[in-house]
Amino acid sequence: MPKLRLAVLGSGSGSNMQSIVDAIEAGTLDAEIVCVLADVADAKILERAARHNLSHQYVSCAPFKTKLDGDAQEEYIRIMKAAGADTVVLAGFMRIVKQGLLDAFPNRVLNIHPALLPAFPGLHSWKQALDYGAKVAGCTVHFVDAGTDSGPIIVQKCVPVEEGDTPESLHARIQVQEHIAFPEALRYLAADALTIKGRVVHIKR
Ligand code: GRF
Repeated sequence: MPKLRLAVLGSGSGSNMQSIVDAIEAGTLDAEIVCVLADVADAKILERAARHNLSHQYVSCAPFKTKLDGDAQEEYIRIMKAAGADTVVLAGFMRIVKQGLLDAFPNRVLNIHPALLPAFPGLHSWKQALDYGAKVAGCTVHFVDAGTDSGPIIVQKCVPVEEGDTPESLHARIQVQEHIAFPEALRYLAADALTIKGRVVHIKR
């Protein structure tokens, strides 16, 4: 298997990208990050990318507020293809991606979501879990499809919801697991160990 060539898209801190960089640098993930793109000009993910000498840039998604579509989508695809990316990693990218991007990278767009899907899709999932009174929370790495947080599940990790948790403390506990889950899912992809049947992902171990 040739090494994965990852385009990482983010909007915020980039701690998930960091976990992928760390796995690559530690030699436990056979992949290369070929570009890091952010839709927020001062997103910390760009600083992290710079620290690791990764190609990175801010690319506006205007005029859209919550999706990646139209000319902006074309520009993202153009940059990712020019960088030679074969896999798109949504690492805290706070936009809905549309069919055009999915068609450009079929079955090769992965997202991480801070809940045990299909529970609590959408925004602030850790707060949704807390407000709902869930006793277990977690994260999901999944292939992206045309819906919102609805694609085939690759890896899930759970954490307990503790008495006295705040949204912040629960999110922090979930993020520890995210940083294990994303490199793990990419390791399966790198090993060509994933097959999708219907909406079920089978993992050859
Ligand atoms: C994570 O909680 C991820 O699950 C969600 O956005 C957050 C991104 O965090 N999609 P970071 O930017 O990777 O630190």
